[in-house]
Amino acid sequence: MSRTAEYVAYGRMDQLHELQQPRSDARGELNFLLLSHVKELLFRAVTDDLGHARYALEQDDAAGACVALARAARTQRVLVACWESMNGMSVDEYAAFRHVLENASGVQSFAYRALEFAMGNRPPEQVAAVAVDGHESLRAELAKPSVYDAALRHLARQGFAIPVPCLEKPADRQHEPDVLVEDVWLEIYRDPGQHREAHRLAECLLEVAYQFSQWRAVHLLVVERMLGGKSGTGGSDGAAWLRAINEHRFFPELWTFRTRL
Ligand code: HEM
Repeated sequence: MSRTAEYVAYGRMDQLHELQQPRSDARGELNFLLLSHVKELLFRAVTDDLGHARYALEQDDAAGACVALARAARTQRVLVACWESMNGMSVDEYAAFRHVLENASGVQSFAYRALEFAMGNRPPEQVAAVAVDGHESLRAELAKPSVYDAALRHLARQGFAIPVPCLEKPADRQHEPDVLVEDVWLEIYRDPGQHREAHRLAECLLEVAYQFSQWRAVHLLVVERMLGGKSGTGGSDGAAWLRAINEHRFFPELWTFRTRL
């Protein structure tokens, strides 16, 4: 078998290239579809690394968690960079094929939702929806603690005063901001030399949260560029809806403690 054939067989590249089937002849649609597939796969890559970080934290291996979080953040930067390619499309090119999407929207992406769940954004209405007819991967994700939950439990085992309700809540319930958790991050950042490992973990977590917010922020800009004030194919009012979501922060106390430092 030739080198090329092995490459094709190993990666099932012929099947991969079968997947991008534009529904129109519009020039921009193939790039849009290719980039959508790339992003879906990268969502999964980030979730996979977050899963490794969670496992390492459960073993109290903070250094191992940091390695996984650092790779997740690298992949997130690639996710942000993907918008650059999509921005090569002018608004008229997008308008020429938008109708073929019908009501398809990224909001329906189970890979993206699994990533949000792994990070800890688990609004009760979404958890309830998963129980009714959610994708298998989402049910599996909700049965596990988020990476932030795992980090707080790890810190508790290291002797930090994480409040008991944060440690004992059901896995599928999202963490609610707690001033006592803010106190713990404050303690760590007031004396990083004394808490080197916890400080490193906090920096790695924050970078992942930062990159996530950056992806959302650029998505919003792309949406304004492509839609102006139009509503979304998924039924939301478009940019306004995404602007509100942009206010959300993962690992909330890691952002808020800074005011007090
Ligand atoms: C022309 C490009 C794009 C436009 C105009 C656009 C527009 C929108 C809009 C308006 C929404 C809000 C929900 C709705 O009503 O549909 C949305 C949500 C979303 N989009 Fe996009 N989008 C674009 C590209 C992408 C791509 C390439 C991805 C990645 C595969 C993506 C992923 C998402 C996700 C995950 C959500 C849900 C966000 C959340 O639940 O917080 N979008 N998009």
